Amino acid sequence: MRSLSAINKYFWRYKSLLFWGVVTVIASNMFTIYPAQVIRIAMNMVGDLVKMYGLMNGFEANTQFTALVTQSLALFGAIMVGLALIRGVFLFFTRQTIIYMSRLIEYDMRNDIYTHFQDLSLAFYRRNRTGDLMSRIVEDVNRVRMYLGPGLMYTINTFTLFILVVATMLAINVKLTIFALLPLPILSVMIYVVQSMIQKRSKAIQEQLATLNTFTQEMYSGIRVVKAYTKEAQAERKFAEETETYKNRSMYAAKIDAVFYPLVMFLMGLSSVFTVWIGAEEVIAGNLTIGNIAEFMIYTSLLAWPIIALGWVTTLTQQAAASQARINEFLKEEPAVRFTEGLENPLQLDTKVAMKEVSFTYPDTGIRALENISFRLDAGQKLGIIGPAGCGKSTLCQLIMRMYDADSGQIWIDGNDIKALSKSQLRNKMGYAPQDVFLFSDSIYENIAFGTLNPTQAEVEKAATVAAVHENIIAFPEGYQTEIGERGVNLSGGQKQRISIARAWMRKPELLILDDVLSAVDTQTEESILAELRRFRSENKKTSVIQVAHRLSCIQDADHILVIENGSISEQGSHESLLAKGGYYSRIYQKQLAEMEEVV
Ligand SMILES: Nc1ncnc2c1ncn2[C@@H]1O[C@H](COP(=O)(O)OP(=O)(O)OP(=O)(O)O)[C@@H](O)[C@H]1O
Ligand SMILES: [Mg+2]
Repeated sequence: MRSLSAINKYFWRYKSLLFWGVVTVIASNMFTIYPAQVIRIAMNMVGDLVKMYGLMNGFEANTQFTALVTQSLALFGAIMVGLALIRGVFLFFTRQTIIYMSRLIEYDMRNDIYTHFQDLSLAFYRRNRTGDLMSRIVEDVNRVRMYLGPGLMYTINTFTLFILVVATMLAINVKLTIFALLPLPILSVMIYVVQSMIQKRSKAIQEQLATLNTFTQEMYSGIRVVKAYTKEAQAERKFAEETETYKNRSMYAAKIDAVFYPLVMFLMGLSSVFTVWIGAEEVIAGNLTIGNIAEFMIYTSLLAWPIIALGWVTTLTQQAAASQARINEFLKEEPAVRFTEGLENPLQLDTKVAMKEVSFTYPDTGIRALENISFRLDAGQKLGIIGPAGCGKSTLCQLIMRMYDADSGQIWIDGNDIKALSKSQLRNKMGYAPQDVFLFSDSIYENIAFGTLNPTQAEVEKAATVAAVHENIIAFPEGYQTEIGERGVNLSGGQKQRISIARAWMRKPELLILDDVLSAVDTQTEESILAELRRFRSENKKTSVIQVAHRLSCIQDADHILVIENGSISEQGSHESLLAKGGYYSRIYQKQLAEMEEVV
């Protein structure tokens, strides 16, 4: 329960809505009780009038009297309608305040969580599955919202109505009150038991739903693999199994539900029986009027819903507490990389990137990815990085962007320690095309323009031209407005890579980081992209490029090349000097040359 205290700050933010909410609940409850009193008066009057009618039978005044009775009854009817209308107005305002407040809090909470999630570093996203993050931001917030809205509203409602009704009943007749309320304790115990049974079931149902969700999500996103391995029938069987479990669990919950409501009705009926029985005795004894019995019948029926709601609210609150605990768990999570306010006047030296004795171990796996890396890249130059799979090339790029903090050593951008720069000072200068291309399910235009403020069509087209994908795009019937399906399924691997390059180039970055983005591009296209990048660098003297590659042809024109093996730099220098060394680089060169000749 303590987890729910995290919501207090939101209550405080919307305290006036909450206050008016409580006031209108109390007001609407008072107008729920008045009609019962009107009915009592009306019934007693009718009783008296019927007696008088008998006395006046056959007299002239009788007709006038009948008219009078009709008029008074019409008046009572009008009063009842009026009271119901006033109650309706208050109910309207209850919803407009409390439910409205719960929606506002839900909105604030969801945005707060989203903002917080975004600040968390990549390591956090490695540890937690997307589905889990999604369910916390969607379902858990929703559960808390149910508690804030309906939960809170019915709680206030139940308590105020209970106090008002029981006080009114006691004021009329203590004995009758006790008998009328006799079944209620049994009812509340029963509700509690049934609710905990339902809750246990609903948890199992929720879990099964989550399994079903994950399963379908995986099957659809991996549909190409499923089809290629003809696993459709197997997937179908598995799906049928999971839905079967889901159905069975739901059926059981429905059964409990089906028994529950008739039982509630039975107990409420019992209460009415007691009311009429004991009430009649009291009327005979002269302590009560017939109108009182009618009034009591209404009161007991008024109490039924709040008591049922109480059990429901208990469940809502328990669920909300569990959900809030899950939300708090992630809110407590600190971003591993903390950015500062930044420097007022960052340096702008000629050295674009420099690293000194940088080492890095992935915190969650303990894999030592980089060891004692030192190098320098000047403004306007190109750095090539090459090395066997898993040697640490991508890790190096991520450290420059400060996706992770190095364990030791220092990294500078333009002569500033990257830890001194703010997030925007650091990353706004960079254009990054990651190794595993990611495109959003949006148009090609939006994908290229993603990292740029106020892009123009001409700029987007220019970026696409540099990345040698413009011709492909205009060949599509809808050109730049072509929608990329989820994960870019409408495009070839090479086209996706080139759109990703265009996106990075679009930012006119001072540092362009291309992580193995030419792997699915043919030699001719590769050469045209490399030439464009060379021209871009010569036009923008401040721009530097870091290019990771497996093929030497991509980095031959680099001013400086790092060869990384097993997390350390084994060789570095220009293409010519590395060839002369006769190490890894020259071996790869010979091998790739031989392969080329074989093909030709
Ligand atoms: N997020 C991660 N968490 C833990 N370990 C990681 C993570 N990413 C990479 N590693 C490990 O760090 C090492 C370096 O990986 P990295 O991705 O930098 O290699 P790479 O040189 O880019 O390889 P490739 O040429 O295949 O792209 C590998 O041993 C890899 O298993
Ligand atoms: Mg890599």
